[in-house]
Amino acid sequence: MATHSLLLLPGDGIGVETIAEVERLIAFLNAKNTSSTFNVERDLVGGAAYDKHGVAITDAAMAKAKAADAVIFGAVGGPKWDKVPYEHRPEAGLLRLRKDLDLFANLRPAICYPALADASSLKRELVEGLDIMIVRELTGGVYFGEPKEIVTLENGEKRAVDTQLYTSREIERIAKVAFDLARKRSNKVHSAEKRNVMKTGVLWNEVVTQTHKSYAPDVQLEHILADNCAMQLIRNPKQFDVIVTDNLFGDVLSDEAAMMTGSLGMLPSASLGSPDAKTGKRKALYEPVHGSAPDIAGKGLANPIATIASFAMALRYSCDMGKEADLIEKAIANVLDKGLRTPDIMQTGMTKVGTSQMGAAIEKELQVLMA
Ligand code: IPM
Ligand code: MG
Repeated sequence: MATHSLLLLPGDGIGVETIAEVERLIAFLNAKNTSSTFNVERDLVGGAAYDKHGVAITDAAMAKAKAADAVIFGAVGGPKWDKVPYEHRPEAGLLRLRKDLDLFANLRPAICYPALADASSLKRELVEGLDIMIVRELTGGVYFGEPKEIVTLENGEKRAVDTQLYTSREIERIAKVAFDLARKRSNKVHSAEKRNVMKTGVLWNEVVTQTHKSYAPDVQLEHILADNCAMQLIRNPKQFDVIVTDNLFGDVLSDEAAMMTGSLGMLPSASLGSPDAKTGKRKALYEPVHGSAPDIAGKGLANPIATIASFAMALRYSCDMGKEADLIEKAIANVLDKGLRTPDIMQTGMTKVGTSQMGAAIEKELQVLMA
């Protein structure tokens, strides 16, 4: 019997509600006799941690995250914490997790469930069957480069600086992740940067080209300027398979890709570290692409599918439970086929449900699939 240790970090806003639906599935899987069982810990992150401890994540919670096989993360932030010091803002908890666990590879699939093709702001024929994987570099670039500061000049004017910084090692390791993924998909990688204006873009392009030559000549590689990539995603999204890009472009392009699938409430993500030299295990954090949605928090309206699908990714990448992951994804698709919709994906003729009803329906569907 394999035991998997999970750390649940619901965070703020709708993170709390959507993680509760993951707990429902964990309880179900633990009760069901599969060959695996889950050992679950919980802790605070974001505004919730700040309110209790004065920091966005405590050292104790970080230690738990380092020890866990997988961290399942909800969302952080909200207007309540707009005035807290910059270094303690809720997002700092998430950024510390990414940096200290060295989770450099962020996998953001954008899959359009056929049942939701009409919920997209793009035409059905453009998005139906869409299956893109955005591979975002997550621990470098302008998010972490130093200096990062606001200084007052002698004339009293202020000047803000962020630093976009990449080493060839950082670019090479994320490129390899993208090539490895492409081989299991449609074997095509687009590498997006701005080599026409940025030195980091020039180096990015060079290193991806070299890595392609030495590591993955069998994969089809195309270089694309990041702004053109944003445009092509809207014009003809199905031309893409894997897109590999830096931290900031990846942040923006993944929100854009997410919206094509009908709702930000649908998309999961995985953030992975390097495989451990001895055990081969990667540190990992799984989270929905959406945020804490303070406007609907606490009302039972949130769509739990992105968080549940993130849990499915955790089963696949961290727990060697690919079969169960497939079944959870199938359960989600079936529930959508039956017409159940949270408000964010509601369409005429469908049945509107809340967060826990959606979670319960997915559990019920999973029960049937696993019977
Ligand atoms: C994301 C989010 C984060 C980011 C925020 C919450 C810091 O937008 O995961 O895409 O910018 O990376
Ligand atoms: Mg973002």
